[in-house]
Order: sequence, then C-alpha cells, then structure tokens
Amino acid sequence: MFAPCPATPAPPVAGEPAAVHVRTPIPGPASEALRARHGRFQDARTVHYYQDARRSVGNYAVDVDGNTLLDLYGHIAALPVGYNHPDLLAAWRSGRFDWAAGYRPALGVAPSAEWVDVVEHTLMRIAPAGMAQVMTVTTGAEAVENAIKAAFIRLAARRRGGAPASPAELRACMLNQQAEANRFKIISFDGGFHGRSLGALSATRSKAIHKLDFPAFDWPVVAFPYQQFPLDAFAAENAARTAAALERVGALCISHPDEIAAVIVEPIQGEGGDRHASPEFFRALRALTRRHGVALIVDEVQTGAGGTGAWWAHSAWGLDHPPDLVTFSKKMQLGGYYMSSELVAAEPLRIFNTFLGDPLRGAQLEVIVEVIERDHLLETTRITGNYLLSCLYELSGRHPGLLSGARASGTFAAIDVRDGATRDQIVSRARQRGLELGGSGDRSIRFRPALILEPRHVAEAMDILEASLGA
Ligand SMILES: Cc1ncc(COP(=O)(O)O)c(C=O)c1O
Repeated sequence: MFAPCPATPAPPVAGEPAAVHVRTPIPGPASEALRARHGRFQDARTVHYYQDARRSVGNYAVDVDGNTLLDLYGHIAALPVGYNHPDLLAAWRSGRFDWAAGYRPALGVAPSAEWVDVVEHTLMRIAPAGMAQVMTVTTGAEAVENAIKAAFIRLAARRRGGAPASPAELRACMLNQQAEANRFKIISFDGGFHGRSLGALSATRSKAIHKLDFPAFDWPVVAFPYQQFPLDAFAAENAARTAAALERVGALCISHPDEIAAVIVEPIQGEGGDRHASPEFFRALRALTRRHGVALIVDEVQTGAGGTGAWWAHSAWGLDHPPDLVTFSKKMQLGGYYMSSELVAAEPLRIFNTFLGDPLRGAQLEVIVEVIERDHLLETTRITGNYLLSCLYELSGRHPGLLSGARASGTFAAIDVRDGATRDQIVSRARQRGLELGGSGDRSIRFRPALILEPRHVAEAMDILEASLGA
C-alpha cells in the first residue's frame, strides 16, 4: 500500500484506458512477426514492441498484440501530452495543420507566415528568461552541434576583435588546418550525454558504446559533481565534489586562455544515471564562465519542456545571469536552441541547413503548449512528481539492499537498483506486467512520463513495480 493519491488540476484525457491489460508476453507474437519483417531492412533489435498508434491513448500505449501498457518512459522522454491527445487530433481534423501538411519547406529560404507565428507566439512564449533568439533544427544532437558552433563563432569573433577572417584563415580552414580554431575546446562532464553526431559526441561521456571507433576532439572533461541522496546524509561529500569540479573548470579556463569556447552541462544527467548537481554548483559555474568569457550551454534536450515541473529545469537554480545557450528537443518535438543576442553570428549562413526544423512539429507544439497551459500540466507534474518521489522512498524503505537513492525533479525521477543486471531484470519483468520504464546509467531505473501523468497512474505503476522486484 502506498500513500493516498493527491488531487491535481489536470482533467482526465478522454478515452484513456482505465488500467494496464496484458494478454501475451511483451513483445508478443504480432510484434515478433513485425520485427522479422522489419529486421530484414532495418536494425530492429532495439524495438521493445510494435505499437498500435491509433489505439494508444493518454498514458497508455497499446501494442499490436492488444496489450495495454502504462508508459512512464514516453518514447525516451519525448511525449509531452501523452498519446493521441484529443486536442491534437481535433486540431488535425479541423484543418489547423493544413498549412504545414502539403510540403516541407526550407525554412531559411521561404517560410510561410504561420511559421513566424510559431516562432513568435509559441517558441518565444516559453523561452527561458533572458533568451532573445531561437534557432530551430530537427534533433537534439543537431541542437547541441550547432550550439557548440555558435560558441566557437563567438570566441573566434572576439579573438579577431570584430575584424573579418583573413585570406590565410580562409585558405587554412579549407585544409582543416586552422592554427587557432583547431585548438578551440568545449568542456564537458563525465557521465554527460549530448548526442551522437561527431562534434556532440566529443562532449558525450556516458557510455563507451556511443563513442567507440569514432575520431574525437581532445576536449577536457571534468568530474560531474553529482549529489548523493539523501542529501543530508552526504552533505560533506556532495560539497567536496562541487568544489573540486568548480576548481577544475576554473583551472582549465586559466591554463587554456582564449581556447575554451564553452562549458556544456545537463541540469540532470539524463542518460548517465540521473545524476543531479546542486543549484549552488550551477550558480557558481555561471559566475565562473562569465568571469572567463566562456559560454555556458545548458543542454535541456531531456530535462526541458516540463518534465521537471517547470518549462526549463535551469529556472530552479536562481541564476543571476541566464545561460548563453539552452538546447532543446524531445518533448519540444523540434530540436533547437535559445540564445542571447550576443551569440547570433555577424554573418548569415554560418549556422544553417535545408529544413531548419519542421513546421508540422511547430504546429503541433502550438497545440501542446496551449494544452499544457490550459490544463495546468506543469503544476500537475510537480504534484505527481512529489507523489512519485514519496512512493519511491516508501518502496526503497520496504526493499533496502535492493533499492536506494530515490530522486526526482517533477516526474523526472529515478531510483537505483543493487546492480545493473538486476535493474535490467526488473525493467523487463515490469514490461511483462504492463509497465514501461527505462534504464539510466549503470543501475538506475528512470521515469520519463508525459505531463498528463497523475498520482493514480503512479499508484498503479508502483504496484506493478513492486510486484516486479522478484524474490
Ligand atoms: C541531454 C541530451 N542531449 C542531447 C541528446 C541527443 O538528442 P537526439 O537523440 O535527439 O539527437 C539527448 C538524447 O537523449 C539528451 O538526453
């Protein structure tokens, strides 16, 4: 038994199943038949199950075998308002997306008037405080890749004192032999994940399998000052890690003058084990980077768009000065980054590509933002997240030695399992019982539900999770 469920302001999603329903092993025979077909042409080994896209509603995914799963993983944290939200379907049916459905434009060449509405009224409406500009792309890795490039452009422009690049520099770059730019660096943290494109990958440091066999930039890494939970039991260790990380970042800025373009950091390391750092660390990091003229890139690809109970996780830090760049994707449906005006390159086309995002995703985001605001889903996420955390404490209290380290910010939550193999078994047993969860880092279970998750869903999930813990 868990604590009684608190109320939230979110209205129920019409047509949502009442509970999980499991008819076959998951993946079942229909999923396996599809995998065999699919696998002939694409690598389908990572697929958990094939989903019945039309029948999935709210927090519940329905698979092609007719199983109904409570989904607390949300397509790797990318599902903002659950499956087939009635407002999204109504917008689709009413023709609200028609302007974006007939062709996919090159948004840097001939966008439509509606795209300007999306930028002005949706993307900028939810922009983090202090961010004057937004760049759109498609994925999280692209967002990071281009945010890093923006930081390099700013550093080079400063070094040239605003003068244009010399003919020698223009020749050298064509031979990959820029004496100065080739020494530019991005500082990242161990355990961080920033995507799998070649530049972003040099800042990604969560798992070797992501990086193996790919040439990488020799950029510095700093030990992430993760907090051990419960915080009061580990105050001294946590403070020591924070001080060490700040000292190392400061030392790198001093030992590589004019070479460090940016520090990139996740508010919570979402792939690398749900590792949290303290607001004091982030405030000091902001002050330090400003002192050294180094850009601070806050990677909110996984934490952004509401999962922590705020639009942007970094808004909880109480920064005196905003970050220079904030990357996003996943629940935002589009990739991109917000930036201060200073990060906009002096010349156009320095950061560019064919699509520059996707108007159809922007049109969907308009509706999603309306739903989140109208239905008070950020508040719901905070209430549900508190309840989830209290249940995780209860669960680990009942299973000491197996579960520990419950932590959450909103419903962006995790709990540690004794070891990785046991974690994998629990996640897989939970799926057999109709609960979809994810792994994070070596031995954590992660929760990344949609913003429509309510305490009653958490109660159902906790019963399933407890039944999946094994002997
Ligand atoms: C913090 C962070 N940055 C970047 C990425 C890369 O995003 P994508 O998979 O869309 O390229 C991810 C993906 O999980 C992420 O969690």
